[in-house]
Amino acid sequence: MTADDQKKAAALAALDYVKPGMKVGLGTGSTAAHFVRALAERARDGLDVECVASSRATFKLASSLGLRMTTLDKQPRLDITVDGADEFDGNFQLIKGGGGALLIEKIVASSSRYMIVIADQSKKVETLGKFPLAIEVVPFGVSATAWKIERALRICGLSGKLVMRLVNGKPFVTDSGNAIIDAAIGAIPEPARLDTLLNVVPGVVDNGLFVDLCGIILMGTDDGVKTFRKG
Ligand code: A5P
Repeated sequence: MTADDQKKAAALAALDYVKPGMKVGLGTGSTAAHFVRALAERARDGLDVECVASSRATFKLASSLGLRMTTLDKQPRLDITVDGADEFDGNFQLIKGGGGALLIEKIVASSSRYMIVIADQSKKVETLGKFPLAIEVVPFGVSATAWKIERALRICGLSGKLVMRLVNGKPFVTDSGNAIIDAAIGAIPEPARLDTLLNVVPGVVDNGLFVDLCGIILMGTDDGVKTFRKG
């Protein structure tokens, strides 16, 4: 099975959690896109759901497939969000934001009763941090924000290279008009502490650590989809 087959299998398994009438948050990325396509097929067969997208890309895909879309302003409380991840650990903590959609993904996931992560088996790690941590920052004064991020890392006993994310040589711009600093810091033993310290830095909008948001992980493997349930 390829990683993409595993992603697709996990996405299909997530359909079992979607019930008629639910308000569903749609994640972003290649795994979430599998779920959007599968959900749209179910909706065409009569499953009545209303969806909120976590990025422009997902909105475009979901609406083009005919899913009924709404906004978080109209529906501030969602039933579930189904999204991918760059990494997850045994405590259901995540790193997300590889595709740059972390802020809205986090707003959508935290507005949902349950966040279900769908992933291929390569995303499971002992300790978060192999994948660079995306930090969404206001474009003003990025260098000043960067040294304060380094200071926050030091307080957690961490350090590493901070790189401004670029696309075609120009700063990457998130759906919210911000920039992203990718922090290659290695193992993050205390994700909750780092999350708090980063998010109080002026100029930091949010970061890719998803702490205590996810309750169920569906992981595609060569032997089928494994379910991890919190608690
Ligand atoms: C988008 O910014 C991310 O948070 C994605 O959910 C994450 O990068 C996983 O992406 P894939 O499903 O493409 O691996």
